[in-house]
Amino acid sequence: MLGNFTYCNPTKLYFGDDSLKYLNDELPKYGKNIVLVYGGGSIKKNGIYDEVIEILKKNGKNVAEIAGVMPNPTLAKLYEGIEIARAHKADLILAVGGGSVCDYSKVVAMSVNCDEDPWEKYYIRFEQPECRIIPVGCVLTMVGTGSEMNAGSVITNEKTKQKIGHAFLSEEIMPRFAVLNPKYTLTLPHYQMIAGIYDIFSHICEQYFSGEDDNTSDYISEGLMHSLIHSSRIANKDPQNYEARSNIMWTATWALNTLVAKGKSTDWMVHMLGQAVGGYTNATHGMTLSAVSLAYYRHIMPYGLQKFKRFAVNVWNVNPEGKTDEQIAKEGLKALESWMNELGLVMNISEFGVTEAELEDIADVTIILTDGYKTLSRKEVIEIYKESL
Ligand code: NZQ
Ligand code: ZN
Repeated sequence: MLGNFTYCNPTKLYFGDDSLKYLNDELPKYGKNIVLVYGGGSIKKNGIYDEVIEILKKNGKNVAEIAGVMPNPTLAKLYEGIEIARAHKADLILAVGGGSVCDYSKVVAMSVNCDEDPWEKYYIRFEQPECRIIPVGCVLTMVGTGSEMNAGSVITNEKTKQKIGHAFLSEEIMPRFAVLNPKYTLTLPHYQMIAGIYDIFSHICEQYFSGEDDNTSDYISEGLMHSLIHSSRIANKDPQNYEARSNIMWTATWALNTLVAKGKSTDWMVHMLGQAVGGYTNATHGMTLSAVSLAYYRHIMPYGLQKFKRFAVNVWNVNPEGKTDEQIAKEGLKALESWMNELGLVMNISEFGVTEAELEDIADVTIILTDGYKTLSRKEVIEIYKESL
C-alpha cells in the first residue's frame, strides 16, 4: 500500500429480508418533517411505498413527496425537488429507489440551504458544499451504483447533454443509514438487473486497473469479482434466487463505498466514456459502461500489461503456462467478453442509436482523466467510440 489515506464511512447498513423494520429505530433520530423521494412508480406497484408510508405514519411524521425522479435524474427535476424540500423544511430526506433516487436526494440535501446554483457549483466548478446539509436515509430497491454508502451524485443537464458525476468528500453527504433488503430487488426487470451487475463489475475494475504496487485493495477487489461472477451466473438463469441476489447486493455496496479505492490512484475512464454516451442518449447507466469497456480495455492493455495478466489469471482462471504476458492478458479480456455476452449486456453504442457522425459531439462532453494506465488523447477517445459502435 503505497498511498496515504484516511478512511471513514459513517453509513449504517441494515441488511436482510426484515431490514425495513429498522426504519423504526432510525426515524426517531430526526425531526418531524420528512421528504420522501422516489422514482417513476415501481415502489407503488411492488408494495414498498405502502410499507414505508405505514412506518412513517406510525412514527408520527409529516411527509412531503418528490415523485417521478427519472433514471439519470435531470437538472430541471433537481430544481423542482429543492423547492419542495425547502418549502417542507425537511429534517430528513428519505430516498426509496435506486441510484438515481439516492444520488438525487443527496444533491437536494446539499442544495436546500445553499444560495448558489447547484449545477454550476457542484458539477461545473466541482466545489464542496459549505452550507448545512440535510441528512439522507436510503431504502435501496435497485442494486449497482453503491450510492447507498457513498458520497457520489450524478446529474444530467438535459439542455447541454452533459451527464456529470461528483464524488463529494464530506462524510455528511453519505446516507446516514441504508436499508438493504435483497427481496426488494426481485421485481427488477432483467435488463436492469444485468445493467446493475455490470455497473458493479465496472466499479471494481475502475479501481483495480490502476497502480503497480502490491496493494490489499486489489486482493479485496478480486474476491468481490469472484463472488459477483459466480452469483451473476445464478441470478441470470434464476432471477428469483434470493441467495445470489443478496450476494450481488452486498458486493455492490462494497464495490463503491470507497474501501477498494484505498491506496489506489483509480482510473474511472470507462465511466467518463459511458457517462458521455449516457448524457447524449439517456441510456441505462450500466449498459453504457458495457458498450464501451472492451474497446477501452483493449486500448490500454499494453500500458498496464502486468495488471491485465493478473486479472486474467486471478479473476478468470486463465492458465498462463507456455503463453506470453500479452496472450494471457488478451485471454482474460476474452473471458470477460464471454461473460458479458452470457449475461446479455449491450455491447455496442449503436444499440442506443449513436452514429459515427455524432462521435465528435460526444467526445466534446467526455471528461478525460489522468490516473489510469494511459491518459487518452481526444483522438483516442474517438477511436474507442468508433470501435464501440
Ligand atoms: O423509477 P422507478 O419506477 O422506480 O423504476 C426504476 C428505474 O426505471 C427501476 N427500479 C428500481 N427499483 C426497482 C425498479 N423496478 C422494479 N422493481 C424495483 N425494485 O429501475 C430503473 C433504474 O433505476 P435507477 O435508479 O436509475 O438505476 P441505478 O441504480 O442504476 O442508478 C443509475 C444512476 O446512478 C448513477 C448513474 O449515473 C445513474 O444516473 N450512478 C451513481 C453513482 C454513485 N452515486 O456513486 C455511481 C454510478 O457509477 C452511477 O454513475
Ligand atoms: Zn457506475
